[in-house]
Amino acid sequence: MSKVIDGKQFADNLCEKLKAEVALLQEQHDLSPCIAVVLVGEDPASQVYVRNKVRRCEQLGIHSVEHRLSAETTEAELLTLIDQLNNDDAIHGILVQLPVPDQINDKAVLAAISPKKDVDGFHIENVGAMAVGENQMVPCTPLGSLMMLQDHLGDLSGKHAVVIGRSNIVGKPMATLLLQQSCTVTIVHSRTVNIESICRQADILVAAVGIPNFVTADWVKEGAVVIDVGINRIEVDGKSRLVGDVDFDDVQEKVSAITPVPGGVGPMTIACLMYNTVAAAKMQNNI
Ligand code: GUN
Repeated sequence: MSKVIDGKQFADNLCEKLKAEVALLQEQHDLSPCIAVVLVGEDPASQVYVRNKVRRCEQLGIHSVEHRLSAETTEAELLTLIDQLNNDDAIHGILVQLPVPDQINDKAVLAAISPKKDVDGFHIENVGAMAVGENQMVPCTPLGSLMMLQDHLGDLSGKHAVVIGRSNIVGKPMATLLLQQSCTVTIVHSRTVNIESICRQADILVAAVGIPNFVTADWVKEGAVVIDVGINRIEVDGKSRLVGDVDFDDVQEKVSAITPVPGGVGPMTIACLMYNTVAAAKMQNNI
C-alpha cells in the first residue's frame, strides 16, 4: 500500500511549534520576528505565493512587511530598497519573490541581500556554507522535502537518491542536503542520457523540472519514495488544474510513498520559510 505524504498536515504541525516559539520570543526577549517580502511586477503565480506566505506569517504571529513594486522598477531602485531593509534592525528576513522582471539581474539582487537575512538561502555565502556542511540558511523547498523524507524513512544513509532538475533553487541544494545525509546522489537533467533507467534505480526520487506529469510509472522503482516539487497549471476539460512533475495517478500504486500536488511540498516550503525567519531573528539577537 502506498502512502500519500500529507505535506499540509506536516506543515501545520511545524507551524504550531513555531507559533509557540514566536510567542516565547516575544514574552522572554521582547523579540518579534519580522520578514520583508518584496514582489516586483504582477505575475499572477507570484502574487498567490506571496499572499500565502503573508497569510502564514499572520497565523504564527510573525510580522511581515510587503513591498509591492511596479513591473517597471529598475535594478537600482530595488537595490536601494534591499539596502534599507539590510540596515533595518527590525527586519530579520528579506525575500524577493522570483522571477523578477527582465530589466533586473536576479543574481545582483540575491547578492545584495545580507546573508544573515537571506531566509531563502540563495546568497552565495549560504550556498557555499552548505557545500562544506556548515548549513546556515537552507533553501526552503529542499529543506521541507528533506524533513518529509526523514519523517517517512528515518535514516537516509546509503539510499540512492535521484534528483531530476539542476536549478539553484531546488535541484542543486536538494542534492547537497541528500549528500549530507549520506545518500548516493545522482542529478539528472535535460541532457542526461537514459534518464528513465537512472530514475528507475532511485530509492528516493525528487522531481523538480517544471514539466507537468513528466515522471510516469515506468520511471520509478517498486517501493520508491517520490517527492514531487512541481507546481504546474494545466487545462483539463476546459478547467484549470494544478499538477506536479509526477503523473500521480500512474505512479501512486507502485511507490511506497509520494507527495501530492497540491498539498505536498508547497505547504512545507512556506513552513520552512517561517522556520528560517524565526532562526534568523534568533541569530541576529544572539538567542
Ligand atoms: N519563486 C519560486 N520559488 C521561490 C522561492 O523559493 N523563493 C523566492 N524568493 N522566489 C521563488
